[in-house]
Amino acid sequence: MVSTEILLSAPYREINHPEIATIRVYPTEKETAKAAASVIAGLVEGNPTARITYATGNTMIPVYGELYLLAERGRASFKKTTAFHLDEYVSASPQDEWGFVNFLRRRVFGPLYIENVNEINGQAVNPAEEAARYDRLLNAAPIDLAILGIGPGGHIAFNEPGTPFSLQTHITHLSASTVNRDRIERGQKTPERALTQGIANIKSAENILLVAYGKEKGTWLADALGGTIGPNVPASALREVGEKVRIFVDEAAATELEIYNFDSTLF
Ligand code: GLP
Repeated sequence: MVSTEILLSAPYREINHPEIATIRVYPTEKETAKAAASVIAGLVEGNPTARITYATGNTMIPVYGELYLLAERGRASFKKTTAFHLDEYVSASPQDEWGFVNFLRRRVFGPLYIENVNEINGQAVNPAEEAARYDRLLNAAPIDLAILGIGPGGHIAFNEPGTPFSLQTHITHLSASTVNRDRIERGQKTPERALTQGIANIKSAENILLVAYGKEKGTWLADALGGTIGPNVPASALREVGEKVRIFVDEAAATELEIYNFDSTLF
């Protein structure tokens, strides 16, 4: 794994896991986000033309906020990087505020002045063709970093429980838990279908960074890290390529990992 960090000020503790290279626990959500942003900026500092896949979602809002601050301070220029995103709701247009293209344009692609952006077109007339087109772009060269969150049932991107690990970009029907999260918990009228990078795309990235805060995400992560590896918990796939995976969590999420009694070391 490439060493990418330079200035990490916050104290953290490390959880040792038999398969995952790095699991760090930061005291707060803000410190976790700062550390994640520092990894991303550090990678770009070392590789100004890096190809990066960006997740969307609430988890990423403070990460991208911190990333913007680092870029503004001249820590790294994202101009020559190439950006991809993980997933998009079928039918979403760039004008739809609930859409992921919209999210990433506002929070990442615009503020970081990224010139090379590859977006999934949620409005494609033929979503299957759009998935194939996106795979051609993704597979043209290695992805240097995939940035991930984790969602209901341990989903990564929109790979819901039951999705084979072998899939590349594909159309997915969102699980009831995800639809409920969007519609009931978050009050969004989002569609039930999405286009998503598959687990095969994610696993092939050179570096993978997953960020999670809070107790609920901690329970999903605990299932992924402590249970059986398999499609029932999509994030468990990361253990198959654990040597290139970093997981950064806050204390609230880490509490849930303790049931598995992984070793913990203070730094
Ligand atoms: C969303 C996205 C994922 C994201 C996850 C967590 O539905 N498809 O890419 O990582 O669910 O989102 P949030 O951070 O908003 O909880």
